[in-house]
Amino acid sequence: MELDSSTSASWADFDPALGEILLTSTQIQEKIAKLGDVIAKDYRNRSLLMVGVLKGALFFIADLARAVNLPVEVDFMAVSSYGVTTKTSGVVRIVKDLDLDLTGKDVLIVEDVVDSGLTLSYLVRNLRARNASSVEVCALLVKDGMQPDGLEVSYTGFVIPRVFVVGYGLDLAERYRNLPHIAVYKG
Ligand code: IMP
Ligand code: MG
Repeated sequence: MELDSSTSASWADFDPALGEILLTSTQIQEKIAKLGDVIAKDYRNRSLLMVGVLKGALFFIADLARAVNLPVEVDFMAVSSYGVTTKTSGVVRIVKDLDLDLTGKDVLIVEDVVDSGLTLSYLVRNLRARNASSVEVCALLVKDGMQPDGLEVSYTGFVIPRVFVVGYGLDLAERYRNLPHIAVYKG
């Protein structure tokens, strides 16, 4: 069947597991443009290295890096803190490490969502131990009230309720990442 390009219907529109659209792709892009401007101001004349946390931050870092009007280096890390369910396992493990040396770099960790904050707390500690000039965090989503003590998120896209969301990189068991918007997962 051919998709009718005259409608905005997407493959997920009739998926009963998906709830309300929390953030449209337009809202996401408008926010990224603003974040990009602020980051470009803050990092002028510094050595900005954006570190994307795979795989959830895949689209976010791609869009954010292009919204920052400065030379930017990009690298990726993959950590696992979740299995195939919507609950944290409480374990953070580096699955793929950085390729680049952080010495003298101003590192900005780019993360999809802060839920328990466990993943980011671990990553910040780990990267701070590697001679970077600075290590800051940019998260597209922060779940309401979930930022743990000692974890400072310098740049936040949206504060959202404590629900499980999918789309724009965020998955459930590897599904839904390519939704252009962010929707509530009802299960
Ligand atoms: P934390 O360590 O509990 O903060 O979890 C962070 C990681 O868990 C994120 O990078 C996501 O990969 C995943 N995660 C947390 N909440 C959600 C969600 O609502 N949808 C999809 N993935 C999530
Ligand atoms: Mg994930």
